[in-house]
Amino acid sequence: MHSPVPGSPAAVSFRGVSKRYSGSRGTVQALDDVSFDIAPGEFFGLLGPNGAGKTTLISILAGLSQASAGHVLVHGHDVVIDYAAARRSLGIVPQELVFDPFFSVRETLQIQSGYFGVRTDRRANDAWIDELLEHLGLTDKADANTRQLSGGMKRRVLVAQALVHRPPVIVLDEPTAGVDVELRQTLWQFIARLNKEGHTVLLTTHYLEEAEALCGRLAMLKQGRVVALDRTSALLAGRASTMLRFKLDTPLPAALVAQARVIGRIVQIKTRNAAEVESVLATLRAAGAQPEDLEIGRADLEDVFLEIMHGEPLQVSA
Ligand SMILES: Nc1ncnc2c1ncn2[C@@H]1O[C@H](COP(=O)(O)OP(=O)(O)OP(=O)(O)O)[C@@H](O)[C@H]1O
Ligand SMILES: [Mg+2]
Repeated sequence: MHSPVPGSPAAVSFRGVSKRYSGSRGTVQALDDVSFDIAPGEFFGLLGPNGAGKTTLISILAGLSQASAGHVLVHGHDVVIDYAAARRSLGIVPQELVFDPFFSVRETLQIQSGYFGVRTDRRANDAWIDELLEHLGLTDKADANTRQLSGGMKRRVLVAQALVHRPPVIVLDEPTAGVDVELRQTLWQFIARLNKEGHTVLLTTHYLEEAEALCGRLAMLKQGRVVALDRTSALLAGRASTMLRFKLDTPLPAALVAQARVIGRIVQIKTRNAAEVESVLATLRAAGAQPEDLEIGRADLEDVFLEIMHGEPLQVSA
């Protein structure tokens, strides 16, 4: 693999990328002027609700779809003009499970490495395939036909396929959707190791605790636009930092409704400091409400995400 060279171009550079889909039912602006760079060696998260444009952006990066405007570079190679070089630098785990159902797991991986011209050292490559199979818990399925695998196992094969040519940039579009807890752990350990060894990682996921744990920097997309772009720690620090959570069997006092997030009996209210916590508790007490299982915790990435996506209140007015 290429190790990152200081001063070298961004691993991935999105510049003014827009994408419009036109169909019989009108047009959809899937991406609207998206620009950001991912530095070599970063573990970068791309977040956003369903339909925000994440897969569209990755399809353009992969050269599977053409941008309506703007361009994308991978290690300085334009994904349209210099497709082969850009594509060789990328290992992409697609969101959709697509396979040629006639091959075994091992054959699928061998075919993939042949496709990328990784034939120079066949033995070393076979050893790498064995290692991938091992790390992804597929060793005992190596000779099974991909058609016979469960959904989660098919996803593991997609991950192995993306990594088979040791790409410097690894792109994972919802790699853990439908994957069991154990594999999620081993998959993240493996990806984190590859990142430590210098591989750049671009990840989309709806599991925000995964993004919080893994990604050094995040972009959030909303309706095709970048609405947040920062270090994960800065996104967490820049928001209301304390979250008050409790259960309530009676209606929430009207004075608190606007600033609360309520799911069933669970109420969450963001506060900035102890005085605001006291003010919320005083309001509850004055209304005769009896909160149960009261907890005070830090706001997590899910709180930040919802706040950015829905413009939820940042703080409780004292
Ligand atoms: N081939 C297509 N033709 C028309 N519209 C499309 C096409 N692909 C995606 N879209 C639309 O573009 C928008 C962005 O879709 P995209 O798949 O990029 O979202 P996403 O962020 O990956 O969502 P998810 O979290 O559900 O995977 C959506 O409105 C979607 O309906
Ligand atoms: Mg998607």
